[in-house]
Amino acid sequence: MHKIMILPGDGIGPEVTAVARRVLETLASGGELELSIEEGDIGGVSIDTHGVPLTDAVVERAREADAVLLGAVGGPKWDTLERDRRPERGLLRIRTELGLFSNLRPAILFPQLADASSLRAELVAGLDILIVRELTGGIYFGRPRGIDAGEDGHRRGYNTLIYSEPEIRRIARSAFEVAMRRGRKVTSVDKANVLESSELWREVVTDTAREYPEVELSHMYVDNAAMQLIRAPKQFDVIVTGNMFGDILSDAAAMLTGSIGMLPSASLNESARGLFEPIHGSAPDIAGRNVANPLASVLSVSMMLRYTLGRADLAERVDRAVSTVLDLGLRTADIAAPGEASVGTTEMGEQIVACLATSG
Ligand code: IPM
Ligand code: MG
Repeated sequence: MHKIMILPGDGIGPEVTAVARRVLETLASGGELELSIEEGDIGGVSIDTHGVPLTDAVVERAREADAVLLGAVGGPKWDTLERDRRPERGLLRIRTELGLFSNLRPAILFPQLADASSLRAELVAGLDILIVRELTGGIYFGRPRGIDAGEDGHRRGYNTLIYSEPEIRRIARSAFEVAMRRGRKVTSVDKANVLESSELWREVVTDTAREYPEVELSHMYVDNAAMQLIRAPKQFDVIVTGNMFGDILSDAAAMLTGSIGMLPSASLNESARGLFEPIHGSAPDIAGRNVANPLASVLSVSMMLRYTLGRADLAERVDRAVSTVLDLGLRTADIAAPGEASVGTTEMGEQIVACLATSG
């Protein structure tokens, strides 16, 4: 029996996780998976109900779960709160509390969507990149941090980009391990020409690579990596990088695949337990209108099945269902060609569930 905790969150989060939940329930009702599912609050909805973006009670329940499925957090309603009380804090806290240091963000182009990419079809055909982003360290969490009065009468804001050797080594291992199961190429992205933290990063990644002689390691400065992602993205297999560089590069990589609405992610800890979420945000502008693309959330379920529940067979079925609905020409607005008809969130969900139910 697997315990799944769903944290729908804000904006389009509840709409897309509702579809993902139906996918899980469909697999369970087919007798292929034993599940217990419970839901909890995170982000703005938690602020409104409990006064904080994540309660200790939800943290405890998430710890007991085998896997957590998250929607999205944030929205304009909470943007003026103090930093420590904002919805994003809930997400950052759960990543820390569960020790989710390894964030896998695939950028895969479904061939049916080649025309939706911001790049010419031939540059992205067959694209399959995996960004491995360090998620619980770096400048997001480094101390000291703050805004203070400054010494010269001018206020100043500051953060600290810090990585310890064990933090670098474990994320490097994570990247080499996944690379062994795919194209065996790792590009480590840093800013070693300027930053000491990157100098250590490069040294430790290079040293760790000696444990994986079959993997080809190269290094790239982050500015060049941003350019190469847009210029010739198919040169990459696995990219490993720190928290902030990974945040930025993964959004850029997402656009190559046509829509950020298609991309899932997995955040794993040392024991491969994880939190699974679309990489898109809460999209408050389209929330509640039944137009959001639920496929990133559905594909997050696939990653959950593959990485935490040990059910690659069911993950493949979910992936195939997604591919089938695209073959059928079903498109939410974000992936529809100009002038092409689109379907809503729930209809896309129904079609996925129908495909799954008949594919057993
Ligand atoms: C992401 C998001 C988060 C991040 C925000 C919402 C805190 O952009 O998951 O990429 O920066 O990590
Ligand atoms: Mg981001």
